[in-house]
Amino acid sequence: MLVPITAEMPGEPVERPLRYRRDFVVARGLESARLRTTALGISTVEINGAVVGDHVLAPGWTSYKSRLPVAAFDVTALLREGENAIGSTVAEGWYRGRVGFEGGRREIYGDEIGPVIELTLEYADGSAETVSTDRSWRASTGPVRFASLYDGEHHDARIEDRGWSSTGFDDSTWMAVRELAPVDDVAVELSWPPVRRIEQLGAVEIFTSPSGATLVDFGQNISGRVRLRVSGPAGAEITIRHAEVLEAGELGVRPLRGAAATDRYVLSGEGIEEWEPSFTIHGFRYAQIDGWPGELSGEDIRAVVCHSDLRPLGTFHCSDDRLNKLHDNVRWSMRGNFVSIPTDCPQRDERLGWTGDLQVFMPTASFLYDCRDFIRSWFDDLTNEFERFGTVPMFVPWIELGMPAMPIAGWGDAATVVPWVLYERYGDLELLRRQYPTMRRWVEHVAEIAGSNHLWNSGFHFGDWLDPTSPPDKPYLSRTDRYLVATACHARSARLVAHAARELGEDSDREQFERLADDIATAFRAEFVTSNGRLACESQTAYALALEFDLLETESQRRRARRRLAELVLTDEFRIGTGFLGTPLICDALSSGGDVDAAYALLMQQECPSWLYPVTMGATTMWERWDSMLPDGSINPGEMTSFNHYAFGAIGDFMHRVVAGLAPASPGYRRIRFCPRPGGGLTSAAASHESPLGLASIDWQILDGRFDIEVLVPPGASAVVVLPDQTSFDVEQGRHSFSIDLNNVTPAK
Ligand code: BGC
Repeated sequence: MLVPITAEMPGEPVERPLRYRRDFVVARGLESARLRTTALGISTVEINGAVVGDHVLAPGWTSYKSRLPVAAFDVTALLREGENAIGSTVAEGWYRGRVGFEGGRREIYGDEIGPVIELTLEYADGSAETVSTDRSWRASTGPVRFASLYDGEHHDARIEDRGWSSTGFDDSTWMAVRELAPVDDVAVELSWPPVRRIEQLGAVEIFTSPSGATLVDFGQNISGRVRLRVSGPAGAEITIRHAEVLEAGELGVRPLRGAAATDRYVLSGEGIEEWEPSFTIHGFRYAQIDGWPGELSGEDIRAVVCHSDLRPLGTFHCSDDRLNKLHDNVRWSMRGNFVSIPTDCPQRDERLGWTGDLQVFMPTASFLYDCRDFIRSWFDDLTNEFERFGTVPMFVPWIELGMPAMPIAGWGDAATVVPWVLYERYGDLELLRRQYPTMRRWVEHVAEIAGSNHLWNSGFHFGDWLDPTSPPDKPYLSRTDRYLVATACHARSARLVAHAARELGEDSDREQFERLADDIATAFRAEFVTSNGRLACESQTAYALALEFDLLETESQRRRARRRLAELVLTDEFRIGTGFLGTPLICDALSSGGDVDAAYALLMQQECPSWLYPVTMGATTMWERWDSMLPDGSINPGEMTSFNHYAFGAIGDFMHRVVAGLAPASPGYRRIRFCPRPGGGLTSAAASHESPLGLASIDWQILDGRFDIEVLVPPGASAVVVLPDQTSFDVEQGRHSFSIDLNNVTPAK
């Protein structure tokens, strides 16, 4: 049985982690020892003084009421015959700590936290015994005085109980513990990558700010924490504040809103001390260090990058370094936000699993990293929350923060888009089967709201959130009619359910949802499209939605819409005009209609707003707003000014599929479409992706008027290669090269 234990320390702040320990005896002939562990809260476990495993913020965040992840470790090598000791430290984490914006909420899952441990010892003679969390454990405080995911960690090394998780430690002054209700009914095996410490970055610059503060620039915006190496007098206190950007030469902390993001370390005074927090995480590039004894040098300080340990799958490179930097920034924003769940941002008092953000970024994410298991876990929670709250909430895990869970277009549609993209990219039919009921239910749910006219034209929506015209304080006010957006999303979701039903052999569903998708498209046209193909709401996003979600009826309507979109983009002087929902579509809408040049003009634009504007401002991650930082270097006055939000990074998918030219043509890349669309002055581009069948890659270059391309097709796959002169070739596994003279090519329209 998995039984949590808990204790209260009178007079201590609730944010103070507690330690739990016990001694136990291992008999002769131990063959194997397996530890299963989780916590109400977040925990670390030690056996005989050694930390078990390398998970960070374990067990991570799930909808704990439905699923509590349990990690398993082989700990045989840590044990010895005779006396042994085991200990665990538990902080509030998401379970009891403050989560959410505008003050957030505490005690979301309960008011009692503690470790859950089950250590099974198996002996050579076939016998077994278990050491589990129960009343025999004892509890006390440790050196961590305060730990909060948003606010930071305070560690006082003077009060460390050395040897607390080893044998021979006197715990007679420690307190008794209580057992809580077993958690077996919600326990799920951790079968997705945990958060780990992935890499360490050195300081690229240490300098003094105008106000005299010592600032460290790690050169990269990350999620993680600072690691110190210091010596000095006992009681000296070092304070570390974190921020993503500087403003007027000082830490720009306003975007953190209510997150203090401040760590403190009090020295023990005993030789060289190394420390990094264990129960908090920050989004930052810069740190302000106060109270450092002596001179701070680059050797003394590191930034430890922490995120879910996903396997990298994809690469992209091209001849333009600005685009390479943009792509790097996309990858770093994924890394900064795939932290146990797919979050919106890693720095402020939010860090929630916003469904809309993931939905638009899913194609890019699935190319860059293997996020199948990671997303499977999150999607299980989406399904559970749908069940519990009667709709797909705006973020998952869902917590009530002063507003009820509401069906929101483009956000709730994660219920259909995420499974479909996973299937398209990884080809796992069983996973699609598992997620299909949720897809279907979401569309039925919205169909009920839309009613017989099929228009989703009621309720609050985020719309095309944060398009460049959204006022700083009203991010949902965008150029594009929100009900146009909602109805378009509804049509697309219905279509995706029909596609999924087709793959799963659910024929009557397929027919039903195809009919529904057709009906919604008809309703969309009646409400929002003139018979000539002009949209009632003229915005880049409106046209991109109509074209990319296939909502127009005739070729002449489509032609008109494409022309009108090109005109709009031109009158906007090739500045981006889309928000979260239009951004993933706009370049495809232009290029698939033949206007590759306009797509590149948008992509290569440097003036604000554009994808490259942040690059020119020195960004190392994707920003939440097109202008999170204004051209004069000040931070946008709005509330939504994260510098690490992956939504606009959805352009990564276009760079992979269209710029480099590597796209799945059938689920799981069993058939690949290599169709690069050179443009924008690029002279080369390359992409690779470790597909389920093996490595696929493309590499093209233009030299002296010749276009040369080499592709790699993994074993068991086939591919079509479409060259810029529109000739195409079917190829099987292996490497294939083609070369054409570009002087003979007339641009495709
Ligand atoms: C988040 C977004 C999210 C949005 C909902 C914000 O606070 O940071 O990324 O999608 O709210 O509109």
